[in-house]
Amino acid sequence: MRARPLFYTLSLTLSRDARPQLFGSMAILLLVLLSAVSISAVSIQGGCVVVTGASRGLGVGIARAFAEAGAATVCLVARSEAALHSTCSELIAEHPNVDFQSIVADVTRSDDRARIVRTVEATGTRRLLLINNAGIESWGPFEHATDASVDEQLAVNLIAPMHLTRAFLPLMLSRGGGTVVHVASLAGKLGSPNSAAYTASKHGLVGFSRALRSEFATRGISSCVVCPSFVSTALLDSLIAKAGGTTPPWIATTTSAAVSTACVRAALTDEPEAVVNRVPMRPLLALYEALPRLPQLLDQALPGLYDFNRRCGRDTDG
Ligand SMILES: NC(=O)c1ccc[n+]([C@@H]2O[C@H](COP(=O)([O-])OP(=O)(O)OC[C@H]3O[C@@H](n4cnc5c(N)ncnc54)[C@H](OP(=O)(O)O)[C@@H]3O)[C@@H](O)[C@H]2O)c1
Repeated sequence: MRARPLFYTLSLTLSRDARPQLFGSMAILLLVLLSAVSISAVSIQGGCVVVTGASRGLGVGIARAFAEAGAATVCLVARSEAALHSTCSELIAEHPNVDFQSIVADVTRSDDRARIVRTVEATGTRRLLLINNAGIESWGPFEHATDASVDEQLAVNLIAPMHLTRAFLPLMLSRGGGTVVHVASLAGKLGSPNSAAYTASKHGLVGFSRALRSEFATRGISSCVVCPSFVSTALLDSLIAKAGGTTPPWIATTTSAAVSTACVRAALTDEPEAVVNRVPMRPLLALYEALPRLPQLLDQALPGLYDFNRRCGRDTDG
């Protein structure tokens, strides 16, 4: 007698009603396994990478990491001309074979965005990568926030990346595809006091990346989002100084190098969402999704949980 697959034999022991559920569950499991292994390697070699917010902070490390990963051209975008040129000279000295270009531009301005696209088009590079990293942050109680501060955070952190991505789409599509990496934040996955506008902008960026990814999956354009926790930079130091003390041990932190590595890895492996933190955050994020009341319960059970965030935001933006 021909041996029957174990799975088929097992299914015969089930009632007729239970069989479709078993087959359905197995199909879902198979899809989950397939999605985990279907990592398509994307090449950065010889490509042109545009990094917004590259005059200082994380953008500098991200630009450097893409140069090290083999990009032929790296375009650095920011508003401060002097800082941008000095970063550019520093990177040229480190990587003389890479064509670094400074583009002095404000990503919230449509004429500047069009100029960024024209500059990149002129490089003639086939493989295009856009890293939407420029961002601003303003801490403070939401009832004291001004219209201007809310509008500005949404304009720089969410609306500008959407418009800039859209401006690049025709060029990417005409060159057979492209990759967009958005630098969001852990604030795009969680909510904490005194950062409502920033948190909303980063949640929006995560949602934008997911939608873009699904819309262009079959057209060669990939969208990835990187969500770093607090990065040990001057920004964190200033928040610590403002909060008057050190960060409590449960405040999530990471390093600039880890963020740069995550951006390159996301682009190379087409990773949909990377959460960058010293310790794995995924279990907490899964709990947060499954139990939306959890943060409130923890805040009540552990007074002081959000003290750092509350102290960081006092007397600002008012
Ligand atoms: N640092 C953290 O702890 C942390 C954690 C999670 C996520 N993030 C995210 O990571 C990204 C980089 O943060 P960072 O810490 O490196 O900040 P940063 O040191 O303040 O640098 C921000 C960069 O964005 C540029 N920028 C701001 N507004 C711009 C505009 N309208 N047009 C063009 N460029 C603009 C700035 O240059 P100019 O002022 O010269 O224009 C600068 O180069 C942000 O999206 C931030 O939300 C940071």
